[in-house]
Amino acid sequence: MMTTPELVPVLTKEEIQQKIIVLAGMISRDYAGKELLLIGILKGSFIFLSDLVRHLSIPAQIDFIRASSYADTMSSSGTITLTQPVQIDVKNKHLLLVEDIVDTGLTLSCIKDYFRLQGAASIKICAFIDKYERREANIPVDYTCHTTHEGFLVGYGLDYAENYRCLPGIYHLKM
Ligand code: IMP
Ligand code: MG
Repeated sequence: MMTTPELVPVLTKEEIQQKIIVLAGMISRDYAGKELLLIGILKGSFIFLSDLVRHLSIPAQIDFIRASSYADTMSSSGTITLTQPVQIDVKNKHLLLVEDIVDTGLTLSCIKDYFRLQGAASIKICAFIDKYERREANIPVDYTCHTTHEGFLVGYGLDYAENYRCLPGIYHLKM
């Protein structure tokens, strides 16, 4: 039997904006005087990245990569395919990988290894949400707006089977 999923509010759009202002302030301080390249991981990070960069007070370059680990399911397959690489040369740049959510960490761990081999000066992770219950890879989430231990979240760029990305707030999807 099909039931309608329930959307339980987690963060309002106002709360999100306040958290992003604080985060952008930290990033601006930490990267002052450095050549910063923000790399958004598509598609989930597109809204977060666009809000974040408008609150930075330092210059930064922006590029995107596309990685896919799971199709329409709720758990990571552990096999990550890079379907669109960066166009800007990352050598000697300070990279900030921008993700919507870190779950097992397998996606970002693969992506971090990939950029390390390309000679980046430093690589840090900025994830809108840090969901740590199922973490498998030992990777630090250097910057985050919200920490949660479990649950499937949607909205503000995060999807379930390509739905819910356009919601302005974050919701817990209960099936
Ligand atoms: P990881 O490799 O398990 O860390 O998977 C990270 C990716 O899985 C994210 O970029 C999302 O695309 C997706 N993901 C993990 N948890 C959620 C969630 O709660 N909502 C929406 N997408 C999620
Ligand atoms: Mg994603």
